This record gives sequence, C-alpha cells and structure tokens, in this order.
Amino acid sequence: MAGAMKPLSPSLPKLRRSTESTRRFGTTSKALPSSILGCVGNTPLVTLNQIRTREDITVLGKLEMQNPGGSIKDRTAVSLLKNGIRAGLIKPGTRIVESSSGNLGIGLAQACRQLGLALTIVVDSRTSSKVVKLVKLYGATIEVVRETRDGESLLDARLRRVRELADSSPDVYWVNQYQNPANPAAHHATIGEIIRETRGQFDRIYVATSTCGTLAGCREYLNKRALYPHLEAVDATGSAIFQSKDKANLTKRHLPGHGSSRQSDFLKTDYVDGVTHVSDRECVEGCHFLLQQEGILAGGSSGGVISAFRRDEPYLESGTTVVLLLCDRGERYLDTINDEEWVEATLTSN
Ligand SMILES: Cc1ncc(COP(=O)(O)O)c(C=O)c1O
Repeated sequence: MAGAMKPLSPSLPKLRRSTESTRRFGTTSKALPSSILGCVGNTPLVTLNQIRTREDITVLGKLEMQNPGGSIKDRTAVSLLKNGIRAGLIKPGTRIVESSSGNLGIGLAQACRQLGLALTIVVDSRTSSKVVKLVKLYGATIEVVRETRDGESLLDARLRRVRELADSSPDVYWVNQYQNPANPAAHHATIGEIIRETRGQFDRIYVATSTCGTLAGCREYLNKRALYPHLEAVDATGSAIFQSKDKANLTKRHLPGHGSSRQSDFLKTDYVDGVTHVSDRECVEGCHFLLQQEGILAGGSSGGVISAFRRDEPYLESGTTVVLLLCDRGERYLDTINDEEWVEATLTSN
C-alpha cells in the first residue's frame, strides 16, 4: 500500500493509447487508454444555463475536476514527466522533486505511482492535511517547510529546499512547474479541446492563475490558430502575479490553487485582456452559487472564476459565449469552503 514503491520496470511505460486493446477488442472499438494516465484530459464542456441571469448569452464550463486526480494539474503533471522522459532526464531510478501546495502534488503522485518513479513533494505549513494524506497515499514522500529566512516567503523557502534536493544527486530531477515550457504546453490540449467543441465560436474565457502555465498555454495556442477571444485572468486579492510584491503582501490568502507570492515566468504583457482580483470570500460565494444553481461541487479557484464572470455579466454584449475553466473538485474543501464555521472564523476581514 502507501509508501511501498512497485519494482521499477527497466523501461518506462508509454504515455499513449494502447494498441494492444485495439488488437484484442477489434478495430471498430476506440483504443482503450493504456493506463490511468490516458484518462487525463478530454474533460467535458457543459452548458451552464442556471448561473446566468440573462438568456441572451451562453455560458460553458470546462470540467477540469473530472481529470482522474481531480484537477487541471493532472495535465501539467503528465506533460512535465513526458517531457523529462523524452529528453532522457527521467530514467528508471530517477527521483522526481517538486514544490506544490496541492493539486500538482496529487497529479504528480498519481503519475509517478503509475510510472514506478519515486517522488518527493515539498509543501509548507499551510498545505491542507487532506493534500498531504492524498500525496502520501499514492506513495510519495512529503517534506514540510516550516521556517523562512529573512525576507523569504514560504514559497521561496519551499523552492530553496527543492533546489537543495535537486543538487544533492544526479538521480534527482526537479520538474520545475514555474519555468518548464512543458507546463504551458500541457494546455495547448486544454484550449484545443475547447476550440474543437465550440468550433472556435467563443468570445471570452476566464482562467485562474498561479504559475500562469494554463493561461500562457491557452494564449499561445489561440495565437497560433489566429483566434483572439477576450482572455480574463482571475487572480487572488493579495497575489503578486499582476502587481508589485509590496502591494500584494497586504492581504493574507487562505485558499490554495490560484494566486502566488511571485510573478510568473510564462506571462507576456499582451497575454491577458483583463485581470479580475477575487477575495477568498468571493471564491466561497462563487462555489456555493455554482453548487446551488448547477449541482457542481468545485474548488476555490472555480468559485473565483464564477464570481469574476458574474461581475462582468451585466456588461456583456448580447450573443456573447463565455467559457469558464473550472479547475478542481470541491471535496478537497469540505473543511474549509464548505464548512460554515471555518468560513466565518477565517474570512472575517475579506
Ligand atoms: C485549483 C487551481 N486553479 C488554478 C490553478 C492555476 O494554474 P496555473 O498554475 O496553471 O496558473 C491551480 C494551480 O495549481 C489550481 O490548483
């Protein structure tokens, strides 16, 4: 069970659809995914008629929580690993390391378990006990950073520890979601699916931001296809991504997922058409509204995206089609967003 890694195969399994299943079940049946990792992506795009207050607009939700590990970060995890394997940087015996406060840790833990790779996730004292349990359950090692040096954020301290681990042995590989181009590249498929399903007929898309891998990947791919919908970044109040660190540090953030204490290495000035900052309370309200209206239990950044859309809704042109990226599941937030006492005790000031 948890903790015990399966013996490493001499070569890593292929991350693609199985031809064996086609042989066995015939050419008329679609090839079955060769593993759980083949189930990452191709998430549903659903109509959200009940969160809109106007009938002259269309609202679509991309259910990224339907990825097998529960979030959009499954795509990033598979892309980072696939890239490292292709480049010969990840081999049988390699230990993967990464800093994560949640979803990427779970996505990597799932993928590394399936591939037979060892994994260390560096988290900090704010990471929820549920995330820690899940990552451990998949068999990964967790290191918790509790102390910072002068002027360091907890994220800086996590990254310092990851660098130490990566430098400690040639068999340790840092996938580096903050700088690895395989992070944005993962989302060429995310936006590609949306383009395919809407035939490119959408006018606005709302994307929550942290590393900005999702946002940059979507924009790069849209530019390549000469499609220019309005791309609205949804960031946390108190985040440093789109504002100076001094200003950003004024507010403490309580919800993981979106927001960051550092700026993104992927972002170019013309990548976004607008930025909406959402408070933790607006994220909670957005989650509750989505659940009540549509029966979709989603996480904090999805709630932020819903609130950002609702702020803009009265001003949208008639006939507008809006896409909302709903990044993770709500079960992870039973003790926070979905716990009235926690909300009242924790989010009193914002
Ligand atoms: C729930 C959720 N929403 C949004 C994001 C932001 O994604 P990105 O790092 O691609 O900007 C993350 C990142 O971890 C996330 O977990």
